[in-house]
Amino acid sequence: MTTAVIIVAAGSGTRLGLNRPKAFIEVAGLTLAQRSVDAAREADPLAQIVLVVPDGQSNLPTGVTAVTGGATRHESVAAGLAVLADDVEVVLVHDAARALASANLFTRVIERVRETNAGVVPSLPVSDAIKRVNAEGFVTESVDRSVLAAVQTPQGFPRAELEAAYASVRADDHNDDAAVFVAAGRQVHTIPGEAVAFKITTLPDLERAQALLAPVSAGYRIGSGTDVHAFGSTLGLWLAGLHWPEELALAGHSDGDSASHAIVDALLAAANLGDIGGMVGTDDPRFEGAHGEVFIREAVSRLRTAGFEPVNVTVQILGNQPKLAPRREEAQQVLSDWVGAPVSVSATTTDGLGLMGEGKGIAATATALIKPLG
Ligand code: CTP
Ligand code: MG
Repeated sequence: MTTAVIIVAAGSGTRLGLNRPKAFIEVAGLTLAQRSVDAAREADPLAQIVLVVPDGQSNLPTGVTAVTGGATRHESVAAGLAVLADDVEVVLVHDAARALASANLFTRVIERVRETNAGVVPSLPVSDAIKRVNAEGFVTESVDRSVLAAVQTPQGFPRAELEAAYASVRADDHNDDAAVFVAAGRQVHTIPGEAVAFKITTLPDLERAQALLAPVSAGYRIGSGTDVHAFGSTLGLWLAGLHWPEELALAGHSDGDSASHAIVDALLAAANLGDIGGMVGTDDPRFEGAHGEVFIREAVSRLRTAGFEPVNVTVQILGNQPKLAPRREEAQQVLSDWVGAPVSVSATTTDGLGLMGEGKGIAATATALIKPLG
């Protein structure tokens, strides 16, 4: 069964007030018309897509049957119906202004029309209290919202019945295609609609669409860091924020906790704030013997001053000793607390190779993801 989708995009967008046809305004790089065409095509790659456009409109999406619309939405739909291919049996009518309606919504409408051979509209329950209001603006009556539904597009119909309905009812008495269909005495089913299929009518609607399409990762940055310390000659290791009294301590100006130091470097690098050496200065007495907490909290504070906060951090420890697994959870908790975001800790040996493999020290590498504050 061949399907056509008529996308009405011929309106002028008066209420949006941008002095341009609404359907040809871009949101996140694509026009509303293009977004609607893309969703329809994804739902049914073989469907005929009819795009009803303002007179003289350029920059049309490719692969569509373009036709000039009329002075009203009703006339624009009629113009679309007039150019359907002969073999079309199911017709969907969609407002380009509902540009975020998903391909899945189109698919569900098409399937339901095929099942029922009746009209199908997506609908949502009404959540606001609804009142009847008189010309003076006074509430005259409360309306029972349980019998009401807010309907959306795409609306789907058997082609022959929709054409007959459009031919038989007076234009402009009805503000959507389901109304035309019902006025012609036909049945219309509802299926669950989508919140994102809202109609872009006013500026706040356009801003909502922009916000929904803004990449969630905007402003996110990553950084990596590495630190290596050789073992000294005394017991009492500090590693991954934990004290390991039975293990050889690492040598260094601070406590030598290479995992903590790698985390500091990763955080600073993500915000382009240099590295741990630049932050503390190797002869600064404040950091003599200091634990990882001091460095990590200082790095996070510098990050915040620069307008960022950590999202998450991973750190991998390279060395033969100590065995991390039994204390991994504990290390993750301590480090996460210092960073203020989840830190995952893993460990590996280096197959006997290099300084770590020879058991001369411990290295760590870390990756930090950060995002703008707020
Ligand atoms: N539409 C159309 N032809 C018209 C009027 C409207 O194709 N003569 C289309 C619009 O392009 C839109 C859909 O019908 O995709 C729903 O209409 P609406 O949201 O009212 O859009 P506009 O008429 O463009 O906006 P306004 O009423 O604010 O001018
Ligand atoms: Mg309008």
